[in-house]
Amino acid sequence: MKIYILIQILLSATLSFAQDQNATRACFSIESLLGPIKVQSSGPQFEAGATGAWNLANAQLRPACIVFPLETSDVQVAMKAIFQSNARYAVQAGGHSAMEGWNNLQGGVLILFSQMNNISESYNQETDTISVEPGLTRGNKCNGAFCSVETGLLLGGGISFLSPAHGFGADNIKSLDVVLVDGTLVVATVDDEYADLFRALKGGGNRYGIYPNSSVDAVINATAHYVQTVEGPSAVLLVSLVNAIVSEEITPIAQVELFYNVTDTNLTTLPSSIFGELLSIPASTSNITRLSYLEVLNTIPAGNNSGSGETFGAEVFSSAEDIQMYHDARAHWDNFTQAVAGTGAYFFTSLISTPIPSSQIEAGRARGGNAIDAPLGGYVALNLGEQLTLGVAQPPAEADEAKLLFLNQLHRSPGFPFFMNECDKRQNVYETYGEKKKLLTCY
Ligand SMILES: *[C@@H]1O[C@H](CO)[C@@H](O)[C@H](O)[C@H]1NC(C)=O
Ligand SMILES: *[C@@H]1O[C@H](CO)[C@@H](O)[C@H](O)[C@H]1NC(C)=O
Ligand SMILES: *[C@@H]1O[C@H](CO)[C@@H](O)[C@H](O)[C@H]1NC(C)=O
Ligand SMILES: *[C@@H]1O[C@H](CO)[C@@H](O)[C@H](O)[C@H]1NC(C)=O
Ligand SMILES: *[C@@H]1O[C@H](CO)[C@@H](O)[C@H](O)[C@H]1NC(C)=O
Ligand SMILES: *[C@@H]1O[C@H](CO)[C@@H](O)[C@H](O)[C@H]1NC(C)=O
Ligand SMILES: *[C@@H]1O[C@H](CO)[C@@H](O)[C@H](O)[C@H]1NC(C)=O
Ligand SMILES: *[C@@H]1O[C@H](CO)[C@@H](O)[C@H](O)[C@H]1NC(C)=O
Ligand SMILES: *[C@@H]1O[C@H](CO)[C@@H](O)[C@H](O)[C@H]1NC(C)=O
Repeated sequence: MKIYILIQILLSATLSFAQDQNATRACFSIESLLGPIKVQSSGPQFEAGATGAWNLANAQLRPACIVFPLETSDVQVAMKAIFQSNARYAVQAGGHSAMEGWNNLQGGVLILFSQMNNISESYNQETDTISVEPGLTRGNKCNGAFCSVETGLLLGGGISFLSPAHGFGADNIKSLDVVLVDGTLVVATVDDEYADLFRALKGGGNRYGIYPNSSVDAVINATAHYVQTVEGPSAVLLVSLVNAIVSEEITPIAQVELFYNVTDTNLTTLPSSIFGELLSIPASTSNITRLSYLEVLNTIPAGNNSGSGETFGAEVFSSAEDIQMYHDARAHWDNFTQAVAGTGAYFFTSLISTPIPSSQIEAGRARGGNAIDAPLGGYVALNLGEQLTLGVAQPPAEADEAKLLFLNQLHRSPGFPFFMNECDKRQNVYETYGEKKKLLTCY
């Protein structure tokens, strides 16, 4: 007896996913301008930066990326991109604040001044001043909690042994180089046109962030882990990420369909070794039922026969690829969606993952092989599809160019075949086939 369990999870991400998306966009554009050394979203320096705040409340937050500026112009580039992407951000000098979210944030862009700690001029006797960069600390000779006290102290006011005589630390600031939110660099002093800003920064403090919600991130992670680990013939997964576009507003939706072929009629739960990570993600709706194969087929909506415009594109990631590949794909997809949303020609864009386990390739080989001739090892076929608005047969030229850029931006695992049914005509699908040479002899 053939019995299937079907679960359809509809994950409808909320506003906070849009926040993540803005940050992802900002991270991408900052990295493209400053390079991967000054902008990081993983690796030892990122980890150290993300967890380096003095207070655990801030050390446990995880930014989407960290910008490590070396000079003021780097900060300008970062702020400009953050501004243009509408991303959330936080700034950390010493990371001493005990207020959660004040010097680190979940999912946004963190600007970390650890590399900008120069005292760029020696003491100027004439003006009785000294210039410091924001990452300057009380010194490497220091051990203990207060070593992390840096220039942020001054923005918060700052109290020292000299305060009763000379005022708060901030009262002694003569001039501030300030990068405004749009990336403009200004010098604020007590009597220039930025005098109000100068005054505000003396004790007005840093800024704070809020937590985003990361269901879609979690779905992407679980998909990547599934592709990396699931080999057998009994499980089927279909993960659809959709960016719905309504009057230029983008709403992300994730839908996950899990199928598992069980012969044990008493089994009522899906195997957690295969689907556990996906099932642990909070979903807005979830429906787990036993169905016959015919009923499974009927869960696919009939749809419209014809008459609507659709565009496709294919990509493949082997099971050996890192999770970051998936997140990069989504960031490119989001950027693409953003680029075409204003054309009015799209209902939605989608990024659909169909894992293809080794058992599928083995089954084909056992039946005499096919032209696709995929290698063993498992991979995921990605479908980068778009539904055009009613009556639109072809996307506008600039949107089509954006699609080509998107397709070219994506990483591809060499040696794995594109899924022809879901290719863009500009993609050379046969190039990706193992049997290309043999196919050519059939003409
Ligand atoms: C993300 O950016 C868009 C504009 O690009 C903006 O409308 C939206 O409010 C931003 N999201 C958040 C939560 O800041
Ligand atoms: C500190 O800044 C000064 C002046 O900008 C520069 O000449 C010097 O190289 C910097 N030192 C370090 C260690 O970055
Ligand atoms: C995301 O937000 C929704 C609605 O507020 C909530 O139900 C869901 O549990 C959140 N997901 C995560 C991963 O925090
Ligand atoms: C997804 O995986 C990345 C990399 O392993 C991790 O940094 C991130 O926290 C994960 N996100 C969620 C929501 O689980
Ligand atoms: C379900 O599994 C049984 C054996 O466990 C197999 O005979 C059957 O073909 C499978 N059904 C499908 C649709 O794969
Ligand atoms: C299902 O459960 C019933 C009642 O507990 C039991 O009699 C039967 O053997 C079970 N069937 C299988 C396939 O385990
Ligand atoms: C669950 O899915 C089945 C099969 O598609 C459907 O018949 C049923 O109405 C669904 N239940 C809910 C509560 O949506
Ligand atoms: C099918 O498309 C037509 C327009 O081509 C539309 O009016 C109709 O609502 C669609 N039907 C469904 C079920 O989506
Ligand atoms: C985002 O898409 C636009 C339009 O295709 C393109 O010009 C831009 O370079 C893309 N940005 C990134 C960071 O990929």
